[in-house]
Amino acid sequence: MKRTEIVQLLKPEFYQAHLEQTVLLMGWVKAFRANRFIALNDGSTINNVQVVVDFENFDEEIIKKISFHSCIKVSGKLIESQGAGQSIEIQAEDIEILGESNPADYPIQPKRMTMEYLREKAHFRMRTNTFSAVFRIRHAVAYAVHKFFNDKGYIYMHTPIITGSDAEGAGEMFRVTTFEPQQAPTTEEGEVDYSQDFFGKATNLTVSGQLQAEIGALAFGKVYTFGPTFRAENSNTSRHLAEFWMIEPEVAFFDIMDDMDLAEEFVQYLINYVLDNYPDDLAFLDKRIQDEEKNMPKEKRRPMGLIEQLRFVVDNDFERITYTEAVNILRNSKPYKKGKFEYDVEWGTDLQAEHERFLVEKKFKKPVIVRDYPKGIKAFYMRLNDDQKTVAAMDVLFPGIGEVIGGSQREERLDVLIERCEAAGIPAEELWWYQDLRKFGGAPHAGFGLGFERIVQFITGMSNIRDVIAFPRTPGNAEF
Ligand code: 4AD
Ligand code: MG
Repeated sequence: MKRTEIVQLLKPEFYQAHLEQTVLLMGWVKAFRANRFIALNDGSTINNVQVVVDFENFDEEIIKKISFHSCIKVSGKLIESQGAGQSIEIQAEDIEILGESNPADYPIQPKRMTMEYLREKAHFRMRTNTFSAVFRIRHAVAYAVHKFFNDKGYIYMHTPIITGSDAEGAGEMFRVTTFEPQQAPTTEEGEVDYSQDFFGKATNLTVSGQLQAEIGALAFGKVYTFGPTFRAENSNTSRHLAEFWMIEPEVAFFDIMDDMDLAEEFVQYLINYVLDNYPDDLAFLDKRIQDEEKNMPKEKRRPMGLIEQLRFVVDNDFERITYTEAVNILRNSKPYKKGKFEYDVEWGTDLQAEHERFLVEKKFKKPVIVRDYPKGIKAFYMRLNDDQKTVAAMDVLFPGIGEVIGGSQREERLDVLIERCEAAGIPAEELWWYQDLRKFGGAPHAGFGLGFERIVQFITGMSNIRDVIAFPRTPGNAEF
């Protein structure tokens, strides 16, 4: 007999057509109550199916081995359920234990466990309801990314993971080398001689695929990347990973306004896709947060339920302001005047997380796009505005998360680009090919980067970014 997946089994059109027939299921035991009711899950859906065991018909040895997260194969008759809460159940006829799991040694228990503990058991945490929902939604968002761009005619481009240029300036990099640390050849000046290394030059893991995506944009018109990126910053926060995934569209003939329109449409599309297609997983995560917040004081609870917040973000336009307006709003705000911000707000310095949160959560109470930042705090490739003081950069800020997107219109004027490189101390010859793009058939263009885990974090409502990636890499952690 062929195995039926539980997601299939639970569809009315399937079970109505198969009532009183025998089906074959395989999966993990979520609960075994009264030696009679198995809640079985095979990962194809957050929902379990109830298997009713008449234990007199089964060997005691088998019954003993049906325990939390043991893996079983069951064939049985599909019948309408007698109990409340489910429409069908399976009357077990035959049970085979595929994989025992001794509950005494098994690190996961059928009760609430801390996220920190589960991170240490990452090889098992996907079997829990919470992570099952999170990683199903992570998949959904990844699929929706490709669908969104494919439907719009974008070309998916794979940019290199190992990069020979360290000019992106987006953060600290991880060095890639085949040298043994103790035996690296050195130059006469006593520095490591990377000309003898594998690639004949110093190489790193990429922090962004943008500069290469620009090559694609000036050939195909519109491209996007979706790949892993690496930053060796020592940021131990709930929003930073050393290895994370980024989606970077890059579009010829776009200016900063087009860029913001695309960013808003894109993230709303992703959220809508999950709302439309994964209601059960979202409902589970929504309830999980409500349960967690039940005993919290009111001011610590989230202002909206998870699904309510997602709907709110797709139903309302994002607020759009300039950096200069943001600074004015912040300097006139109550927390600023009362000295409640830890960091000062002054034109020319970067907005801190606390400032971004004020704008999004207190002032506008919705996502905010801030644009036209001072050139001094942004990357060399961002297009210089006519005021000569600001660049055409934009950040999309979300409630609870802060920055989910950073993007800009790119500097397409060669002379200005060279000046900005020099000001940033970047050797011009290193980016010879980037300059060539401006010399030969250059075009105005723009793009942005969406932090994949940050948007998954927002959609799932998980408090820590480490809980939306299967195997988080953070300072001091690279297990699994
Ligand atoms: O703002 P960032 O640094 O922008 C770039 O890298 C540009 N090259 C993008 C572009 O224009 N094509 O990073 C983009 C996004 C951030 O907004 C944030 O969501 C995410 O990447 N991000 C991180 N996510 C997790 N952990 C980290 N350490 C992150 N650093 C950035
Ligand atoms: Mg940024």
